[in-house]
Amino acid sequence: MEEVVAIVMAAGKGTRMKSNKSKLVHKIYGKELVKRVVETAKKAEVNDIIAVVGYMQDQVRDVLKDTVYYVEQKEMLGTGHAVMQVAQKLKGRKGKVIVLNGDVPILRPETLKDLINKSIENKEYATCLTAIYDNPTGYGRIIRGKDGNIKEIVEEKDANAEQKQIQEINAGIYCFDIEELLLALEKLTPNNSQGEYYLTDVIKIMNEKGLKVGAVIVEDNTEILGVNDRMQLEMLTRVLRLRINGYHMKNGVTIEDINNTYIYDDVEIGIDTVIHPNTTIKNGVTIGKNCEIGPNSYIREGCTLADNVKVGSYVEIKKAQIGNGTKVPHLSYMGDCKIGKKTNIGCGTITCNYDGFNKSQTVIGDNSFVGSNVNFVAPVEIGDNSFIAAGSTITEDVAADSLAIARQRQINKEGWNKK
Ligand code: UD1
Ligand code: MG
Repeated sequence: MEEVVAIVMAAGKGTRMKSNKSKLVHKIYGKELVKRVVETAKKAEVNDIIAVVGYMQDQVRDVLKDTVYYVEQKEMLGTGHAVMQVAQKLKGRKGKVIVLNGDVPILRPETLKDLINKSIENKEYATCLTAIYDNPTGYGRIIRGKDGNIKEIVEEKDANAEQKQIQEINAGIYCFDIEELLLALEKLTPNNSQGEYYLTDVIKIMNEKGLKVGAVIVEDNTEILGVNDRMQLEMLTRVLRLRINGYHMKNGVTIEDINNTYIYDDVEIGIDTVIHPNTTIKNGVTIGKNCEIGPNSYIREGCTLADNVKVGSYVEIKKAQIGNGTKVPHLSYMGDCKIGKKTNIGCGTITCNYDGFNKSQTVIGDNSFVGSNVNFVAPVEIGDNSFIAAGSTITEDVAADSLAIARQRQINKEGWNKK
């Protein structure tokens, strides 16, 4: 494949977020917008990424670290100007450059790959990603000639009444030939209603030079939604929620309430597992087949659940490895622990994993029975086939096949209340 470079435009202000943070470091499902964009490029096998930063750039650099190269845009003079800042870095290179908006975070890597492949196959010097919107207000419009070919892009603010009727919009995501892009950038002028250098003008410039340009219409037009305010941030979270939950359902997982189940990125769930409502499952968790999770439960990072595991209602688990057939049915916190097979953890049991300085492990063996309301003061290890009496505070290891009781004996004083 040809060399492909990506530019992520991440210098803008994001005034409408009303925030002390850069818009681009706001999160969807725990991951910053701009990081999502960079990860999309990487998943589309584009690893050479240049971020154009400006406003609050320290925050953006803090998030992206050394996963990208940085170029600074000192004044925000438009999207064309943003890309001009990268010209030096692109000079002398051949191949394709894709341009991405830092605030369009849920584009799929497959869509990006498709854009790049079509651009290469069709030998186009510029290929734009477009979408058909019922209400195209605010977006640049795609102007096509009689032959159906894309001629230019006109911004909302520069469009005439007829052009405003056009429903095909510019997503702000492109694949360009590097050399021809550099030549076109030299010809950009800020002669428009906003006095900005528009990247979109490159299309017209290339057309006038007789270079072939094209467009790919995105199938699922929620992919190219951008974030400008907190309402849109919530809306995109919702779109992503449906996409992720739908993915698991297609893979054979039952999700009782698609709107109230919060599964983060890179989670694996086996078939016939049932997820009850109001359950949150964080990044990278692995859940086996035929498990039952929730309602109202919280599966945090670092958890691995084998098959046939039950994590019932109001349970929080973190860095927990849970063996086949084990149950944590109600109201527990089990953090930093390893639990074997076919063990039952009684209601209200918790691991005391943090002493204010360090986190410690609780290890519980196979076939054990833990009564209700037990505290495991970690580090502590419980052998196989053991029985822990309800209400115990376990501070010492328990050998296999043992009973452990760690609580005050009850004293009954008969007749005491009559005196
Ligand atoms: C742009 C497109 C428009 C398209 C829309 C899709 C232009 C002229 N118009 O409009 O056709 O429909 O995106 O969302 O390109 N940025 C910088 N430096 C700047 C200006 C912007 O880095 O000087 C960054 C912003 O942070 C943002 C991106 O570029 O990530 C897009 O800029 P924005 O001002 O939102 O462009 P739109 O007016 O939405
Ligand atoms: Mg925008």
